[in-house]
Amino acid sequence: MYFIANWKMFGSTNSINTINKVISLTKLSKFRNTKIVYCPPYTILEKFVKKTKKTKIKIGAQNCHYDKNFGAYTGSINAMMIKQVGAKFIILGHSENRENGDTDHIINLKIKSSLNENLKVIFCFGEKLSERRQNKTYEVIKKQIKIGLKNVKRLNNIIFAYEPVWSIGTGKILKNTDLEIQISKIKSYIKKNFKIKNPKILYGGSVNPKNIRSFSKIKLLGGFLIGGASQNPKKFIDIIKKSIN
Ligand code: 13P
Repeated sequence: MYFIANWKMFGSTNSINTINKVISLTKLSKFRNTKIVYCPPYTILEKFVKKTKKTKIKIGAQNCHYDKNFGAYTGSINAMMIKQVGAKFIILGHSENRENGDTDHIINLKIKSSLNENLKVIFCFGEKLSERRQNKTYEVIKKQIKIGLKNVKRLNNIIFAYEPVWSIGTGKILKNTDLEIQISKIKSYIKKNFKIKNPKILYGGSVNPKNIRSFSKIKLLGGFLIGGASQNPKKFIDIIKKSIN
């Protein structure tokens, strides 16, 4: 099971010690197969890489520029630079970046350049509330996945993350049965259209210690992408413990 902490634009150089308890947790045999990935802001990426070097925790970035080469893109960072500081993962296609102008095509380019650098891609997709209300959820998701993965090789280095936009940071969640159906549909679509035997699909959107037990009953899920609650080590550990038990 993956537990991916997306810190978004939170975290300073002092935040590093908040992960001490999580490091201790990963040393317990019970959590041997638990995969924890921290995705802090770029500014503390390297610090997190160094801190977790001798642990099982991996570090990821939250986005990148699509150009695989250096270039005149003020304020941007590419996959090569992220790889250089020792990160192993990258979140791409997050709705907050789609909102800031990332089209499916741009996301496709970012996925390609990241895979080219041997980064594992956490590929996010999900419908907005208006799309859900118009019964377009599945259609929207299929399009996001289809264009996002166009001509992509090394598909096995992709982890999928279904994040309904209306659920992010709102406390609103799908009913378990609905989520289960959704995940099953997404999984079948991916299996049918791309050469991936057993795609890993994570769920993200208001995951917290209170709702995790229910989410973790969905056996089709390969883990969780956690925003707000992942910044609080107590809550993050609680989520991990409850979903393993
Ligand atoms: P929250 O867990 O804060 O809803 O955020 C989810 C998310 O966007 C993870 O990528």
